[in-house]
Amino acid sequence: MQQPSSSPPPAVLHAARLVKRYGETIALDDVQLTVRRGESVAIMGASGSGKTTLLHVLAGIILPDAGDVRFAGRSGTVTVPELSDADRSRLRREEFGFVFQQGFLLPELTAAENVALPLLMNGEKKDAAGDRARAWLAALGLAGMADRRPGQLSGGQAQRVAIARAQATGASVTFADEPTGALDSITSEEVMTALLHSTTGQGRALVVVTHDEAVAARCARVVRMRDGRVHADSAAGTR
Ligand SMILES: Nc1ncnc2c1ncn2[C@@H]1O[C@H](COP(=O)(O)OP(=O)(O)O)[C@@H](O)[C@H]1O
Ligand SMILES: [Mg+2]
Repeated sequence: MQQPSSSPPPAVLHAARLVKRYGETIALDDVQLTVRRGESVAIMGASGSGKTTLLHVLAGIILPDAGDVRFAGRSGTVTVPELSDADRSRLRREEFGFVFQQGFLLPELTAAENVALPLLMNGEKKDAAGDRARAWLAALGLAGMADRRPGQLSGGQAQRVAIARAQATGASVTFADEPTGALDSITSEEVMTALLHSTTGQGRALVVVTHDEAVAARCARVVRMRDGRVHADSAAGTR
């Protein structure tokens, strides 16, 4: 019998037998992946190997042609591809955080307003949303930047604002697609520190697509894709 202390944390995401085709292209070819609470998983692989497609299927942005994605969230377990479009958008808004290569910050809003926006969309009161936005900015070392607009921030600062925005709603899983792809190596390291601190540091999961071995090395687990398949998983055999 395993002791409770040695049993792995529960799965937040469990994907099985995922298939996604675009015409003749098989972007995902029988992919299985389990992501546990508090785990950081890097997804690596050559361009075109299916990394972004996998991220989008896990997050309910696109639907697979076959297979399942189960998500264990705050209000129970759901099968993501079976949800309606509206329920999938709500899931993305309330349970998932997203960080992309480009921050996609709204240029006319301040950093604090950018971070508060998803909170307002989730029905939070303006003052509470503003306070939480500022607290997250401060937690990511951006206390003095709250009133700046994106054009007045460096690339690394803008990316940390995007991370604060992804975390402020209390996301249980954060999906990041090449979050450091546009940054130099030192800034990239700072952004990864912010990303890990605000996700796994809070018991939340992080799934990060990256080309950068230095970024992957910061994650607890590395999954490598080739031709739409997972061909290596550093966690294989350990669970
Ligand atoms: N919307 C799409 N329409 C057609 N083909 C697509 C689309 N998205 C991805 N693909 C194809 O699926 C494969 C996997 O793409 P993607 O998941 O973006 O790979 P990666 O993120 O690893 O570079 C590639 O061959 C790509 O050209
Ligand atoms: Mg991609």
